[in-house]
Amino acid sequence: MPKLLIKNGRVIDPASGRDEVGDILIKGGLIVRMGPNLHATGVIGFDASGMVVTPGFIDMHVHLREPGFEHAETIESGSRAAVAGGFASICCMPNTSPVNDDATVTRYILERARNVAVANVYPIGAITEDSAGEKLASIGSMKAAGAVAISDDGRPVMNSRVMRRAMEYARSFDIPVIDHCEDLNLSAGGDMHEGFPSVRLGLHGIPSSSEDVMVARDILLAEATGARFHVAHLSTRRSLEMVAQAKTRRLPVTCEVSPHHLALTDADMPAYDSNYKMRPPLRSASDQAALVEGIVSGVVDAIATDHAPHPGSEKMQEFEKCPFGIIGLETALAVTLETLVHSGRIPLMRMIELFTTGPARILGLNRGRLAVGAPGDVTIFDPELRWTYDVNRSFSKSRNSPFDGRTFRGAPMATVVRGVVVWRR
Ligand code: DOR
Repeated sequence: MPKLLIKNGRVIDPASGRDEVGDILIKGGLIVRMGPNLHATGVIGFDASGMVVTPGFIDMHVHLREPGFEHAETIESGSRAAVAGGFASICCMPNTSPVNDDATVTRYILERARNVAVANVYPIGAITEDSAGEKLASIGSMKAAGAVAISDDGRPVMNSRVMRRAMEYARSFDIPVIDHCEDLNLSAGGDMHEGFPSVRLGLHGIPSSSEDVMVARDILLAEATGARFHVAHLSTRRSLEMVAQAKTRRLPVTCEVSPHHLALTDADMPAYDSNYKMRPPLRSASDQAALVEGIVSGVVDAIATDHAPHPGSEKMQEFEKCPFGIIGLETALAVTLETLVHSGRIPLMRMIELFTTGPARILGLNRGRLAVGAPGDVTIFDPELRWTYDVNRSFSKSRNSPFDGRTFRGAPMATVVRGVVVWRR
């Protein structure tokens, strides 16, 4: 296996607190040396002068659509979009067809990933069979096969008794439970956040309370069972307050926030533009401010894209008929840099933590740090480069992004997975 020497980058590693210009030598897929002025023979060199060099980013919330919906995305295309966004590792949600509710499907995804993916792929298993919310899925055997968490994602478990049992099992298998917190009875029929813009557009609203009641329920169940509970794409002020409170009480509760909820509000949606339609929906300016505060204060543990590809044929219908979801792998870093770092809200170190050690800690992954002996996964980005996102040039098979045509400051430059430069700008 060739050696890779990354030279002269500003190396930032939240796990060790390192922030200095230096070099990284990777051999056999592992970091073998770090420091200033490294020399080695027979290496592939990468000049990272003027760039930031960090642990390979981890996106813990991605929809790869394979098996079953390969017209929207595949493990291969999704992984290519991931590395073009700076993500060396991605976790894929189980809402495929068949649902990943069984070790056979988990193994299938891993086998496909080994053959075609350019990023590390970690499957997330379902909580219930077919994510139907009734019978528990085979949690133990999925974990043994390689699942890193369980979630019914877009079809959250409504029955609290089932969720309690799931958390008890998850606790005994030591696997985190990720919940897309949404009371489907409260949100039924809704197409966007319930607020003034939804009234103006004459669209049915999804109230903040549909998220809040489920976050409250799950925190109570996590407390009762001792399970590790993670809130997916947290989007409301009240939910954030509850997670903060749970953390103060030292409960095993974590949360992620998505770049689009940080950058956009319900008022930003051009009328009936389905590239702004996702669940949870874009919320109010007050919610958006709360998420940023949660990132500044340390309550938020990770940034995750909820990359949810849908083909144009499905997104170009009447707004109410369009599926929920937007792609986000290739814009996540730029959107986050702009919203949080260039705006002066947080330093680079904190942002990188949200993309690396944060998700690694939640999922127990041996990744997300730069150290001798650690996997040779590296993300290299230029925080200043100006570029314009053209969704038609995306590596994803789908085009459903609200950021098409937007000019950003800051861009991924190269992604290294197990010592191999799998993408460069
Ligand atoms: O907007 C969303 N799209 N939210 C989800 O929870 C599911 C996802 C999808 O699978 O399309």
